[in-house]
Parts: sequence; structure tokens; C-alpha cells
Amino acid sequence: MTTTDDLPAVPEAGDETVAHGAASGQPERVAFGRNPRHFGIDPGEPWPDDVPKDQDDTHWRFENDPAGARRAELKIAFCWTLTVLASIALAIVYIDGANTQAAGICWGIAFLGLGIGMLMWARDLLPGHEVTASRGHHDVCAEVDRIAVAESLSRGTEPMARRPFLFKMMGAVGGIFGLATIFPLASLGPRPHTDLYKTDWTGGVRALNEDGNPIRPGDIPVNGILTVFPEVDGQPSTDALSPTLLINVGDAPFKIPPSRTGWNIGGLVAFSKICTHAGCPASLYNVQTHQLICPCHQSTFDVLDDCNPVFGPASRSLPQLPIGTDAEGYVIATEGYQEAVGPGFWNRG
Ligand code: FES
Repeated sequence: MTTTDDLPAVPEAGDETVAHGAASGQPERVAFGRNPRHFGIDPGEPWPDDVPKDQDDTHWRFENDPAGARRAELKIAFCWTLTVLASIALAIVYIDGANTQAAGICWGIAFLGLGIGMLMWARDLLPGHEVTASRGHHDVCAEVDRIAVAESLSRGTEPMARRPFLFKMMGAVGGIFGLATIFPLASLGPRPHTDLYKTDWTGGVRALNEDGNPIRPGDIPVNGILTVFPEVDGQPSTDALSPTLLINVGDAPFKIPPSRTGWNIGGLVAFSKICTHAGCPASLYNVQTHQLICPCHQSTFDVLDDCNPVFGPASRSLPQLPIGTDAEGYVIATEGYQEAVGPGFWNRG
């Protein structure tokens, strides 16, 4: 059984060698030149049982093999050169029309080279051991312990600084690869400007059903619901944000915000059909509760209360369209939507 007498003395900071096991002729690797506090051990205390006595957090794979380390460096440089070339190719691909397959191959090679290079650096040229620290005492952390932890962390940069060639190359690779990642922004297409906030509904535009026929208020019975579209060149608009629901709530108590007085025709109200969560058509109407339900994620909107969401992931109400009738008695929009339609959350506070 091991006793503390068998354990090595704690090396003092600044020691260069501790030949633990040297008597066998095979010097063992042990912790050198470190503050024992890095292992949670107070100087002068016997080495505790819960800390392996021969652990070393400074050893790395090619520490004693300069030629091997050089070969590892060259392999890493090769990987990162591939990343650079693939990044340049990626830029050229985008300038030359952004072929999707070619761009994908370039991305793959660039990421692969970068990743493999970093893995090799970590595996071959950096210390990568698990280090066990003593559980120690769970007192208030002393200043000396905090300094030891800071020292221990700062020692982590030393192995990297030891490789100035790789360090500089990593900076260059990061810059070129970073620049290459800007090119895919071109795939976002033209800027939408204000298109996201506009629909084909404007003042005086008639509401048409899907067959292209205009609607009179009496066409929709109490508790009836109909999807309508703004008339564009005599046809129902195909604009994705324009589908609107005409709902006849009859005599049900309908809360009308003061700012929306006159936006309805009796019990007939119009709300956007585009769910404010993710843009699905909110088209299931529960006549018992006067609620609209979106089938995608079950957001539920209370039609009698300004189409506010009462359940589900949608966080804002369905926009209301102000409606009236024209000289021939057909339903028209008296204005366009006054707020963003659909999942236009970026337009909200
Ligand atoms: S899109 Fe309607 S709830 Fe998600």
C-alpha cells in the first residue's frame, strides 16, 4: 500500500529536474518547474493520494523529436495551404456565377484543411494530457491560489508561441478564409428594401375570391370565413403576403380599438391570413370560440380581441385590414395594411 512516505516530495517552483524513478536507469517524466499549487497542493505538504505523482501537463508528442515536430509542422502547413487555395477558389467560384456544387466542394476542402491542421497541432505539438488536481481544501480561495491558476492558464499560450511559423500562418489562413466567407453573402440576393412591409392591398382595391370574383358583405354568412385576395389587373393577386381572411362574427362582442373605428363592415372583419409566427396560413376557424388556429404550430388568435395570440409560438396579432364597400357594394380595402404582415418580427419593438 502506498503511503505518503513513498511519494515524492513536491517539486518547488523553479526546479528543472526531478528524477523520480531515475534509479532504475529510466528517468520518469514528472512535473518540473511548476508551482505545486497548479495541482492544488500546498508547498511543503506531502503529495496527496488523489493526485497521480508522475503526471505532467507539459509533455507533448514530439517534445523529444525535433524532426518529428518539424514534419508535423509541415503537415499542418500543407493542410492550411489547402484551406487558403480552397478559399481563393471559393471567391473565384462566386465571382464566376456561384456554382453551388463547386462552392460546396471549396467549402468542404477549406473547412477540412483548417480542421485537420488544428487537430494535428493540438495532437502533436501541444500538451494534451488530463491533469488531476487535488481536491484540496474548500476554503475561501486564497490570493496565492488565484495567482497559481492564472499562471497555469497563461502557461497554455507558451506552446503556441513556440511555433511562430504556424502562429503566423494561422493568422494568414484565418484572414484569407475569413475574407472568403464574405462572398456567400452574395447568395442572399437583392435587398428587399420595403417590400417585406408591403402587400398589394391599397385603398380602393377590391377583394376577390380565388375564382377572381368580387365579394359582397352578404356573401359571407354569420360565422362564415373566406380567403380573399387584392385585385390586380382584374385577377386575384399572387403576392404571398396578401391572402386575407374575411370573417363574419355576426353579433359577437367584437373589441374594436379606437384607432380602428370603421375598419369593419358590421360583423365582417378582415385579418391577414399569414401567421405571424412563421408564415403558414392561419385558416382553421373555431366558430364556438371565434379563434383562428394556425395548423403549423397551433398558434391561436382571438378574432374578437384584435386577433391577439392566445396560444402557441406566435407573439403578435394578425394585422387587420381596414375594409369598406365601393359604389357597387363590393368589399374593398379602404387602406393597405398598417403594419408588417407575416413573420416580420424585425419591424416590431
Ligand atoms: S407558422 Fe403559425 S404557428 Fe407557426
